[in-house]
Amino acid sequence: MSQTARLIIERGTTADGQHVDTFDVHFDAGQSVLDGLRWIRVHQDPTLAFRFSCISANACKECMMRIDDKVVYACLARLEPREMKIAPLANKALVRDLVTEIAPPAERLRQ
Ligand code: FES
Repeated sequence: MSQTARLIIERGTTADGQHVDTFDVHFDAGQSVLDGLRWIRVHQDPTLAFRFSCISANACKECMMRIDDKVVYACLARLEPREMKIAPLANKALVRDLVTEIAPPAERLRQ
């Protein structure tokens, strides 16, 4: 049976300012927050920025973000039928929306 999670997502950049967008996501039991974010990007807002690579193998570690103020992997966190606050990592430089600078300094592209 499908349920609904209300994802309250911090968006924006440091330079242009941040705001919150809210999305209602229908899901089946067992689906991850990363599944919900991918659904939003396909069906609601293609500009939503977040990182992922391995999709639930928990190998890439790129989907790390804060959910309800706890640092988690979005591909391991399960959607729940309630409001869930989703934010970028607080201890990394913000790139945009849920994307933060995670590459070691020596591996970053020069600007
Ligand atoms: S998508 Fe790779 S660890 Fe979550």
